[in-house]
Amino acid sequence: MWVAFGVVLASALAGCIEDPKRDILDPVSDSADISAYMYNLLLAVCSVIMVIVAAWFTYSVVRFRKRPDDDGELPPQIHGHTQLEVAWTIIPTLIVIAITIPTIINIFELERRPGEGEPVTKIEVIGKQWWWEYNYKDEGFMTANEMHVEVGTTVQLEMTAADVIHAFWVPQVTGKRDATPGRVYEMFFNVREPGEYIGQCAELCGSSHALMGIKLFAHPKEGPNSYAAWVASQKKAAEPPRSPEAQRGKELFMQKGCMRCHNISGDARTELHPKARRRETGPDLTHVGSRTTIAALTLKNTRENIARWVHDPQSIKQGALMGDPRFNTVQVSKEEAEAIASYLFRLK
Ligand code: CUA
Repeated sequence: MWVAFGVVLASALAGCIEDPKRDILDPVSDSADISAYMYNLLLAVCSVIMVIVAAWFTYSVVRFRKRPDDDGELPPQIHGHTQLEVAWTIIPTLIVIAITIPTIINIFELERRPGEGEPVTKIEVIGKQWWWEYNYKDEGFMTANEMHVEVGTTVQLEMTAADVIHAFWVPQVTGKRDATPGRVYEMFFNVREPGEYIGQCAELCGSSHALMGIKLFAHPKEGPNSYAAWVASQKKAAEPPRSPEAQRGKELFMQKGCMRCHNISGDARTELHPKARRRETGPDLTHVGSRTTIAALTLKNTRENIARWVHDPQSIKQGALMGDPRFNTVQVSKEEAEAIASYLFRLK
């Protein structure tokens, strides 16, 4: 049975396209430092208690075991022993207080707003079944699932959800926080190490909850891979198609009605009017080709995978709005999907 379990687990892990490191004990931000600190503190306190209790227990079992000459009488009873009762009330109370004080301090620390004039990257995060929308309001563009931030700059997430409750969680960077329809919850963090960090929706939110990944890129302040360079690339209008097949893909994108849900900036015909945005609105595709994954980290971003996804989304993400016959979505043939993929994959 364990062998079968191991085989299933190994194949499940092999199916992951990303390095599955999601370790809260390897923090790379001030916010994650606090989570790791509290985890280690509680672990230390509980370990000490466990060692004392286990040692005392073992000693008692050996020292007071039944011996051949026992006459069967019970040991002296201590019911109503005031000193003992006071001790075992006070000691746990002190332990709880000792844990509560740093907990409260750290809750306030996690909620601390950036100071006046401190540079902040504000990102509106909208959880949807089953992907994440990121609205860089101050910069004027949107993206999906792959969040980009700058090392050393405080990030302020304003989180909400469009349909059901989701939870944003990047273990090395943030704690978990719910994204709830009709509410806005804030979260702050400041990443200190450049890199890619993997996260996951942490609230059961429907059939494809497990396929609601997050990738967080922390860019250095300077250099060709800087955050500023990324922002500049995202602000550009979409590239016009360069091959006949991509051109046909663009026409299909319009004919099939893709642009009723997906915005591609730079051409009025593929743009989604801001007023047309609604709960069902899908990811902004202006620079979809620049992402490393699609479908919320379900697939690597390749031309072939975009074609597969556009042709039959339901086989990849069960219950996704795209391709759901209940919404009368237009069907896209394999060959049409290839053309659309040629167009989309070039949108770097
Ligand atoms: Cu969204 Cu689970």
